[in-house]
Amino acid sequence: MSSIKSALTNLFSKAFEDNGLDPKFGVVVESQRSDLGQFQCNGALAAAKAAKKNPREIAQNIIKSLEHIDYFQPLTIAGPGFINITLRDSFLGEQITELSQNSRLGCPLKEKSKTIVIDFGSPNVAKPMHVGHLRSAIIGDALQRLFKFQGYTVISDNHVGDWGTQMGMLIGELQTREPMLPYFDASFSDPYPEKPPLSLSDLEEMYPVASKKCKADDKLMADAIKATDELQNGRAGYLALWKHFVDLSLEALKNDFSKLDVVFDHWYGESFYTDRMKSLVKRLKEEGHAIVSDQALVLPVAQESDEKEIPPVMLVKSNGGFLYGTSDIATIEFRRETFNADTILYVVDKRQSLHFEQVFRAVRKTGIAKKETHLTHVGFGTVNGPDGKPFKTRAGGVMKLAALIEEVTQKAKERMQEAEIAQGMAEEEYNNIAIMVGKAALKFADLMNHRLSDYIFDIEKFSRFEGKTGPYLLYTAVRIKSIMRKATEKGVTPGPLLEPGDKERGLMLLLGNLPDIIESTEEHFAPNFICDFAYALAQEFNRFYRECHILNESDAAIQSSWLTLSNLCLRQLELLLSILGIEIPERM
Ligand code: ARG
Repeated sequence: MSSIKSALTNLFSKAFEDNGLDPKFGVVVESQRSDLGQFQCNGALAAAKAAKKNPREIAQNIIKSLEHIDYFQPLTIAGPGFINITLRDSFLGEQITELSQNSRLGCPLKEKSKTIVIDFGSPNVAKPMHVGHLRSAIIGDALQRLFKFQGYTVISDNHVGDWGTQMGMLIGELQTREPMLPYFDASFSDPYPEKPPLSLSDLEEMYPVASKKCKADDKLMADAIKATDELQNGRAGYLALWKHFVDLSLEALKNDFSKLDVVFDHWYGESFYTDRMKSLVKRLKEEGHAIVSDQALVLPVAQESDEKEIPPVMLVKSNGGFLYGTSDIATIEFRRETFNADTILYVVDKRQSLHFEQVFRAVRKTGIAKKETHLTHVGFGTVNGPDGKPFKTRAGGVMKLAALIEEVTQKAKERMQEAEIAQGMAEEEYNNIAIMVGKAALKFADLMNHRLSDYIFDIEKFSRFEGKTGPYLLYTAVRIKSIMRKATEKGVTPGPLLEPGDKERGLMLLLGNLPDIIESTEEHFAPNFICDFAYALAQEFNRFYRECHILNESDAAIQSSWLTLSNLCLRQLELLLSILGIEIPERM
């Protein structure tokens, strides 16, 4: 089972081959000119160039080779040699019937033996998670869901930053506030208290204060760096305190991610790799890969062919502390040994591209990653406010996730009222629907942009029930569910698909694209392809439903064929939305 486009591509490739030409010229694409055909093959032009022949002549020969195939209406040539293809309705009907009978909607199952590790989410402990990390969570989760559907072995890892200088800043700040706590007394040898010396909200309040102070005062910053190094080197009091910071923070983060329905297999933070970093650095020194430069230990990764300078990876600072890159290199070694990862994806802000370039080079050069392992930085752009600058709350701070979800839920309620959706439902169900609508708005608005572009965060716009929004898709899916339910109540059941006419053709052609869409989303790590397709499908279904009054149709064969078509549309929307991490209410 494959998509219509790839079935056509196979046929055309064979025809090129039969004419002594490279089969790669047989690629069939959707038509740019729907008045001329549904699909087109433009390969004759390139093939002519390669073979130094006339393109129209080649096109004619290809058409001749395909004469015996009755899938399409007579093929025509446009311009210098474009071949236009319009399917016979009978063939289109058969293809869509086959698709509807396939439990995976025509999407082939991939090899389970291939293991993909996805590194995403990855906020920093003790700092509030903001809309930037939200992007990583939403895009990473969509990829995780896609690859699971595809059948790969998927391992998600939330690589939280729990070992950086913010820890030293917090230690310093707490020491200023409560110098008598035992954690700061280097000679203290009793067990440390089990209860944390502060609450989560203290911690959240403390971090911005500490960070501001350190930025303004070199001495405080130096102290913070020193405390971080001592922590990394195992100072017991600092470790005990750090554990409290991490526990408090992780609990809050887990709560945040679960509000978004984002689940990780692992939460190995940077600190998890401490021992590994030590032995790794030792080995890299012995092997001569790591060298001393300005008292720091670095790993050069520049290559002769570089157009811009790629600085070495810093492994150990002059005062002994490990760095971000050190832990990423150790992490790759761990993921190879533990998971035997074939692919590792990093869903991280695109501004970190140099960091990943350096790390990837380092692990290739040192053989820490196998040659055949794919390492990819799946970067993404910034979420901006209406002023075009990185998004902040009205009060000017970073928006906390819980508050954000609360805000979109409220907005969803307003919109539901305006659109008279879910009115009169019991409170609990109503609230649940509002949460789903709000999350759909949030996730879809993020995913529908190509991940590398920046976008403007505009709750007003993306919570609407019309236009290219999550709520519009939910509304359409729920609408089909309701049609299916009403049909069942009337005793109408889905039946064989009839050959399409003008009303059904467009919808069928679209439905036939699904496998290709899934494939190109995988290829480019680009969930926006799924968003575009889901939106086109929803619009096309709503057009179809305006013209075809399914529930009132008097011809039973037509009615049950329409129902099958609607059901297929619903199954595709359900699949697409589930990959995007968007839940559909039963009714609304
Ligand atoms: N914690 C980092 C940040 O907030 C992102 C970590 C991404 N993952 C990685 N393996 N480096 O910027």
